[in-house]
Amino acid sequence: MKLPTGGQFWPSVVLVAITTLFGFTAQAEAKMDVKKQSWGKTADGRQVDLYVLTNDKGFEVKVTNFGAAVVSVMAPDRQGKMADVILGYDSAAGYETDKAYLGTAIGRYGNRIGGAQFSLNGKVYKLAKNDGQNSLHGGVKGFNKALWAAEELRAKDGVGVRLTYLSKDGEEGYPGNLSATVTYTVTDANELKMHYQATTDKPTVVNLTNHAYFNLLGDAAGDILGHELYLNSDKFLPVDKGLIPIGELRSVKGTPLDFTKPTVVGARINDQSEQMVLGGGYDHCWVLNKTGQGMSLAARMYEPKTGRVMEVTTTEPAIQFYTGNFLDGTIKGKKGTVYTKRMAFCLETEHFPDSPNKPSFPTTVLKPGETYSTTTVYKFSAK
Ligand code: GLA
Repeated sequence: MKLPTGGQFWPSVVLVAITTLFGFTAQAEAKMDVKKQSWGKTADGRQVDLYVLTNDKGFEVKVTNFGAAVVSVMAPDRQGKMADVILGYDSAAGYETDKAYLGTAIGRYGNRIGGAQFSLNGKVYKLAKNDGQNSLHGGVKGFNKALWAAEELRAKDGVGVRLTYLSKDGEEGYPGNLSATVTYTVTDANELKMHYQATTDKPTVVNLTNHAYFNLLGDAAGDILGHELYLNSDKFLPVDKGLIPIGELRSVKGTPLDFTKPTVVGARINDQSEQMVLGGGYDHCWVLNKTGQGMSLAARMYEPKTGRVMEVTTTEPAIQFYTGNFLDGTIKGKKGTVYTKRMAFCLETEHFPDSPNKPSFPTTVLKPGETYSTTTVYKFSAK
C-alpha cells in the first residue's frame, strides 16, 4: 500500500483509531463544511462576506465575495503543521484599496493587452492604459474590484462557494454583457479547485484567472528564492519592454526560463540575459505541453524547509510565473506583515497575454451562444 506522503495523514490515522476505540465521532476535529461570516462593509456601505471552506483534514480556504478573492489557504507542512500559504489582507478594506491583485479574481482579460486596444469584427475597442501604454488585468476597475454575488455549495466531492458577476456591456471598454461565474471548491484531497464560466450577448474577449501570491514557507516567513519549481513547458513567450509578447513561441532550452527539471527559483533569477532583465525576474507566460483540451499538469512548486508541495493542473494552455518583482514593501498585509520583493510567487493559469492582437495565438474570443469554461486545481501536499 502506498501511504499518502502528506504529514496530515498521521493525525487522521490517530483520530480514526481513537474514535473507533471509543465508538464516537470526535466533534472537535475538522469537518468538511462551508461557513459564511460577515466581513464588514465596502467604503460605500455594501455588505462583504467571508466564506470558510474546510475539509475533514483541516485544510482550510477563506474566500471573500469582494473581488472573488482567496484570502487564505491553510496547508500542512511535512509535520502536519498548518500555515497560511498565500498573501492577503485582514479586512475587506485591504482588498478594496489593493493594487497588487493579492488573491483576487482577474477579468475580463487577465494579463496585458498591448496598446490598451484591440479590434473585433472590424471595430476598435479602447481600454484604459493602466500599465504604461497597455491594459492590465481588466482595467482600472477589473473583476478584482467587483462585489460578487455568492452562494454556498455542498457537493459530494467537496464544499465551495459560487460567485457570480455581471460585467455590463461597455464596462472598462469591453463589448457585451458578460455573465461570469467563479466557483471555488475545497476537496478532501487538499485541493482548491477554481472553475470559471462565462457567457456573453455580444462577441467579446475573455481570459479569467486568479492572482494568488503563494509562499510555501507559510505566513510569508521569507522570500521564495529557495522554492523549487517544475514547469511542464518547453516554450515561453518572449516579451518586449512593456511585457507584451512579441508573438514568438521560444524554446526554454539553455535559458534561465527552463524549469523542465525542478530548479531552485533563485538560482538564475538575477541572470542578465534580455528576457530576465525585461521581466525584472520571472514575469512570463509559459506555453504548457499539452496533448488535448483536458486537465493536465502545469506546475509543481516544492519548498524544501517545510516540505510543502503545490501542484497546479489546468485546462488552460498557458501559465504566468511571476516572482513578486513589483512587491516593494509598500503593502502591509495579513498580521501586519510587510510584503517585499520576491516574497511570493504567482502561477496564474491563462490564455496568452495580448491574444486579442495576436491572430496566431489561441483565440480568446467568446461569442453569444458559447460558454467559456476553464478549470484550474491547486493541490497541496508535503514530502
Ligand atoms: C501579473 C503581471 C505582472 C504584474 C502583476 C501585478 O502577474 O504579469 O507583471 O503586473 O500581475 O502586479
